[in-house]
Amino acid sequence: MCGIVGYVGHRQALDVVVDGLRRLEYRGYDSAGVAVVTGPGTLAVERKAGRLANLENRLDEVGRGEFAGTAGMGHTRWATHGPPVDRNAHPHRDATGRVAVVHNGIIENFAALRAELEADGVELTSDTDTETVAHLVGRAYAEGPTKGDLPASLRAVCHRLSGAFTLVVTHVDEPDMIVAARRSSPLVVGVGEGETFVASDVAAFIEYTRDAVELGQDQVITIDRDGYLVTDFDGEEAQTRPFHVDWDLSAAEKGGHEYFMLKEIEEQPTALADTLRGHFVDGRIVLDEQRMTDQDLRDVDKVFVVACGSAYHSGLVAKYAIEHWTRLPVEVELASEFRYRDPVLDRATLVVAVSQSGETADTLEAVRHARDQKARVLAVCNTNGAQIPRESDAVLYTHAGPEIGVASTKAFLAQIAANLMVGLALAQARGTKYSDEVAREFAELAAMPAAVAKVLGTVERVRELGRSLADSKAVLFLGRHVGYPVALEGALKLKELAYMHAEGFAAGELKHGPIALIEEGLPVVIVMPSPKGRAVLHAKMVSNISEIQARGARTIVLAEEGDETVRPFADELIEIPAVPTLLQPLVATVPLQVLSAEIARARGYDVDKPRNLAKSVTVE
Ligand code: M6R
Repeated sequence: MCGIVGYVGHRQALDVVVDGLRRLEYRGYDSAGVAVVTGPGTLAVERKAGRLANLENRLDEVGRGEFAGTAGMGHTRWATHGPPVDRNAHPHRDATGRVAVVHNGIIENFAALRAELEADGVELTSDTDTETVAHLVGRAYAEGPTKGDLPASLRAVCHRLSGAFTLVVTHVDEPDMIVAARRSSPLVVGVGEGETFVASDVAAFIEYTRDAVELGQDQVITIDRDGYLVTDFDGEEAQTRPFHVDWDLSAAEKGGHEYFMLKEIEEQPTALADTLRGHFVDGRIVLDEQRMTDQDLRDVDKVFVVACGSAYHSGLVAKYAIEHWTRLPVEVELASEFRYRDPVLDRATLVVAVSQSGETADTLEAVRHARDQKARVLAVCNTNGAQIPRESDAVLYTHAGPEIGVASTKAFLAQIAANLMVGLALAQARGTKYSDEVAREFAELAAMPAAVAKVLGTVERVRELGRSLADSKAVLFLGRHVGYPVALEGALKLKELAYMHAEGFAAGELKHGPIALIEEGLPVVIVMPSPKGRAVLHAKMVSNISEIQARGARTIVLAEEGDETVRPFADELIEIPAVPTLLQPLVATVPLQVLSAEIARARGYDVDKPRNLAKSVTVE
């Protein structure tokens, strides 16, 4: 959470930084701030609680001319320490006002550092952990062995910090450089012509350059207009990995849509096609990176999928396929629970870590725990070079492109496709599927972008339905088999976007308690299994619907085209194309995304930036 951007070059830093913050606002929107070195000895800082727009208004009031300078940095905050008020907004300065710091992460020993500073008579002006760093860097630069050396000062301070952090630091006496440090939180470098950038995400600088460099753990970088120098925390020059970003500015812009999320819903056929592309070569499924042998894959005797939120739901979908195709036991676990319950892991365990951002703290810690126990880790990730794939033994990237809307849509569908390819890779390695069977399954997957496009062509009716549900108090979602994770995902979307009470249930569980919730007019969304693919479950589901209809529920039924049996039980019928059973979540999820977005819009909420949330959750 929190987005940070730093710039040194030939342009006005304020413009670059504010544009960058606009593209990073998905990471947090509790407050925003900027600092620009306006000359030797002068630093202009402005910060404001609330959305970036508040800061921009403030900059207009003050006059943007006050921020003339070619080195600067900015921050958009998701509050951890201290409420989202002006005084807690970044950048934070030291007592002299000569150093400014922005930060993403949590400094876990900040209370001790704060007490130490206060004992020395330093007056802290915010509730944040970040401010302690500004004071410590200011002191290290002013006196002692690192005097007058900003990178060395930051390195010395990093040795004193525990927790996760990306820090970007500027000092009035170093007007042509910005220094940054990274431990566990993300930071990428953008390398342009006579200009250099650092940011939480390449989206911040994609307008200027697509040449990027991935920083490693515990590294400090100094940027100026001619380039960058990276060292470890001890000052030894360190290795970095350059990469070229394979999408451009248009992908990070709304392209005429009211919200990013609406654009991202429409991009799903492309996201699926791009994710599948290049992974079935010469009759075999291939991963992107494999630092484990084929024998390791053959030796796997148990699979865990660990993830959070929507990524977790994508794992639940995959469980049905991986068990069916490989006959391996698969457990799907919330990453936040995984390492605290002592799971049984060994060399023959494959842990599949699914994360759009690749930086979710719970998932990252689950990966570390798994590796400590000698399990192999395979990452499914949408962000090139993020920490989770870096720390994994194998990687399959989803190519959904940048997902800016906080609610996951195209990344979720791409995760399902990638997880299914992991299942096929295991089936092929273990010989539980013949090559022609793997080819057939892959061909069915490859037909899904067209099926999703077909669904998108029919969602106008779902939008109308959404508007009619805007005043509902609650909505329930029911599914069976692969429809169950779809129900969970539908409920999550509605909660996070429309702030409406929503619950997803396995329909078979209904009679064990949840049916007590049914009352006159309560909307219940039902994801029907295919009448051909899962006839037995279909029949059971029809009974479930009639049970709730008899108790007054308003039934909204998602059913396969041509499913006439269910029609009499549907107050509202949403038809989806007939697809293979295990792939149905790819088409069934789409109307639910549209439904939630439309309910949220009708209720007047910002669909891209739901309250209290941030896109990347980098704290546990
Ligand atoms: O970046 P990740 O995939 O690790 O994120 C996991 C969850 O935080 C994420 O899916 C979250 O649940 C979304 N807001 C759901 O729409």
